[in-house]
Amino acid sequence: ATHKLLLLPGDGIGPEIMAEVKKVIAWLNARGGDTFETEEDLVGGAAYDAHGKAISEEAMQKALAADAVIFGAVGGPKWDGVDYEVRPEAGLLRLRKDLELFANLRPAICYPALADASSLKHDVIEGLDILILRELTGGVYFGEPKEITDLGNGQKRGVDTQVYDTYEIERIAKMAFELARTRRNKVTSMEKRNVMKTGVLWHEVVDDVHKRGYEDVELEHMLADAGGMQLVRWPKQFDVIVTDNLFGDMLSDVAAMLTGSLGMLPSASLGAPDGKTGKRKALYEPVHGSAPDIAGTGAANPIAMIASFGMALRYSFEMVEEADLVDRAIAATLEKGLRTRDLAGQGDAVVSTAEMGDAIVAELENL
Ligand code: NAI
Ligand code: MG
Repeated sequence: ATHKLLLLPGDGIGPEIMAEVKKVIAWLNARGGDTFETEEDLVGGAAYDAHGKAISEEAMQKALAADAVIFGAVGGPKWDGVDYEVRPEAGLLRLRKDLELFANLRPAICYPALADASSLKHDVIEGLDILILRELTGGVYFGEPKEITDLGNGQKRGVDTQVYDTYEIERIAKMAFELARTRRNKVTSMEKRNVMKTGVLWHEVVDDVHKRGYEDVELEHMLADAGGMQLVRWPKQFDVIVTDNLFGDMLSDVAAMLTGSLGMLPSASLGAPDGKTGKRKALYEPVHGSAPDIAGTGAANPIAMIASFGMALRYSFEMVEEADLVDRAIAATLEKGLRTRDLAGQGDAVVSTAEMGDAIVAELENL
């Protein structure tokens, strides 16, 4: 099959790390089997400079037509003064909204070669491989009312509203169980049912989905605060953690720091399967931003971006063997001691963005 990719490199280091993904795509295309057709467009500050908005309608159409969007990063000090509606981040929010990407997948993986460099104890994180599944389009970030009102007595009141409907919990719970089946078959659901009505409903709906067709998967419930503690204490007890937008935002950032550098962390955002084709809309991006402080210096670590493309192979194209190859090539490159500046310890030799990308492709060739 031929898969259609839209590449949106964005700003700062975005284009530099996307260049390394293109090497991996070229390698896969030359190898035979499934191939990729790529289109490229502007997003973020680059799109604002060209069109006055963070993503053009034409690029949005391409995103809707693509099998997957591969996204670099957006933003930078150049656009700090730009209006809220057209600021670089608006491009990403528009994509998430129009593609209806309701699920955010954030793996936390500890490559053996980096276990000693982490701030945590070696045995806590060595071999860590967990997946945090965050609900992305509901909850307190979007619920109404959302306002600041003047109470007239010198006081103001800020209001955010947490809202979840059954269908929103159902679809993310289903995804959690299905992902767990491809992994170690365990789901931990986190909420705060002791103090939140949405937590009570979340718990009930997850249980219900579990009973209707997923009883082969182990399900555990945990209060989100206790979950945060367990995540730091002994993260290897988890396989898939499913949680709401707010808790997921925090817990995935905590999990991120278990494994070290921001430059290592991939992510995927998925939508519902299409009624006709069964294919999900999807966007893959590194967790980090555009790193304006190192843009143009060749210091960017391309691993998060390449691993994000690896997630596209796994979750959009069922190219599990190739996805595993990409992960193993990254691990092998690190095993050989190659380090971009963000990963380098004292005495380590430092390689550039392009050298790291080339080394990963060379490992692909070897494996
Ligand atoms: P950042 O993630 O861009 O950078 C934080 C620190 O990590 C910097 O010191 C940077 O040099 C380093 N870093 C990040 N990625 C790296 C990589 N691949 N290799 C080596 N070092 C790396 O976050 P920051 O500085 O808060 O934001 C910079 C800009 O990025 C802002 O305009 C922000 O709004 C935007 N941003 C965009 C995101 C996106 O496109 N999804 C996400 C987060 C921030
Ligand atoms: Mg966050």
